[in-house]
Amino acid sequence: MLYIGIDLGTSAAKLLLVDEAGQVRNTVTKEYPLYFPHPGWSEQDPACWWNACLEGVPELIAGFDPGEVKGIGAGGQMHGLVALDKEDKVLRPAILWNDGRTFKEVDYLNETIGRETLSRYTANIAFAGFTAPKLLWMKANEPELFGRIEKIMLPKDYVVYCLTGVHATDYSDASGMLLLDVEHKRWSEEMCEICGISVSQLPKLYESWEPVGTLKPDVAAKLGLPEGVVVCAGAGDNAAAAVGTGTVGAGGCNISLGTSGTIFISSDRFGVDPNNALHSFAHADGGYHLMGCMLSAASCNKWWCEDILNTGDFAAEQTPITDEKLGRNHVYFLPYLMGERSPINDTNARGTFVGLTMDTTRADMIQAVLEGVSFAIRDSFEVAKSLGVKIPRSCLCGGGAKSPLWRKMLANILGIPLDMVATEQGPGYGGAILAMVATGLFPSVQAACGALVSVAETLEPDPELTARYEARYQQFRQIYPAMKALFPKLH
Ligand code: XUL
Repeated sequence: MLYIGIDLGTSAAKLLLVDEAGQVRNTVTKEYPLYFPHPGWSEQDPACWWNACLEGVPELIAGFDPGEVKGIGAGGQMHGLVALDKEDKVLRPAILWNDGRTFKEVDYLNETIGRETLSRYTANIAFAGFTAPKLLWMKANEPELFGRIEKIMLPKDYVVYCLTGVHATDYSDASGMLLLDVEHKRWSEEMCEICGISVSQLPKLYESWEPVGTLKPDVAAKLGLPEGVVVCAGAGDNAAAAVGTGTVGAGGCNISLGTSGTIFISSDRFGVDPNNALHSFAHADGGYHLMGCMLSAASCNKWWCEDILNTGDFAAEQTPITDEKLGRNHVYFLPYLMGERSPINDTNARGTFVGLTMDTTRADMIQAVLEGVSFAIRDSFEVAKSLGVKIPRSCLCGGGAKSPLWRKMLANILGIPLDMVATEQGPGYGGAILAMVATGLFPSVQAACGALVSVAETLEPDPELTARYEARYQQFRQIYPAMKALFPKLH
């Protein structure tokens, strides 16, 4: 039996074909464009997600028996606003998770409605990337389009809709809309009223592993799959990645170094960060999680290498960064290229190099970028620890985790062992696992992870290097407070 996992990312859709033993039998990646129509804005055309699936699935299953494919599950970029009209046509490009245009709406929600009220309704406060402030933005800036909205959904829900014709979402992804009462897993009528929408405009809620339908006959024919293939609700990409690394149940931690950088702490109980610096969301295993999300992680390295240095050879750039240089860099980098979400919640924050001298080298600056991202992950890690959450170790996944150097930096900056799982395929693998549960191969997400996910390699921190990095981190954490008042004046 075979299962398709879809990782609907920000720069590409990665499709996985996984067998019932958890072996990845094939992968196909389809890239698509991302638009920044104004500084700080970030949009994508939902049609490109669907085209990536229409083109990618036939390639993925070529050479395999399509009759063996039993289920499809997706993990998708979170928070993106997909607005459909009454004919289910997309009304405007999706406004993505890393879009910062809604600072006024965020202020209105956090200051006028109030953080405490929002937290009571949804377990979270407003952040620029969340879906509810985007609805308020549309209402204020595109009233005609806003008036035509019939259904509101998230990126992977749009793909599930195209596959099945069903308007569905799951609790993990819905948590990031600021429209869900996360604790009680139901839409918040109060938040709908605040945003000028009704609950009927929102999709039906499911657990991530629940089947929402089967392939529409015309879609099955286009994809080359049987009609009976089950499509489950899927999950937000971080929850799906956590499933993919076996971070389920109580007390697990998964760090993802993708376009965004996240620290994801799973729990079997609902809990809220009293300062709301960390998000309190539902998990794809039926439980909950706390999460810190930085908006630019591996994307900082990609930007620095590809756009500034004009090279795609990331490994070559890292070669000069030898062991003795670690914990001794005089250059610091604030990774706030798209503003920042966790834990500082500041859309005005900007990327910054500090500490350059005449003898600063290209390698020092690369090192600063990799370290700056790791230090910023540590900021959210510290918030979690301050809440009494124990994080003795973590899994690590995402494109950035492929760099042994970056792994080493992160393990020593956090001072904990980092586990790499044997099948590191991020959200797509989690999506395939959810599809296995949806089709009855496993009785629960936990059971599936127990059977399929194993740790292949652990990176232990080195006490001497951890101490050196501790001193550097204490310097790093003084930079943003010193710059904070300046950033809004830089526009
Ligand atoms: C999580 C978040 C990002 C996106 C990236 O809150 O905004 O991790 O899900 O795809």
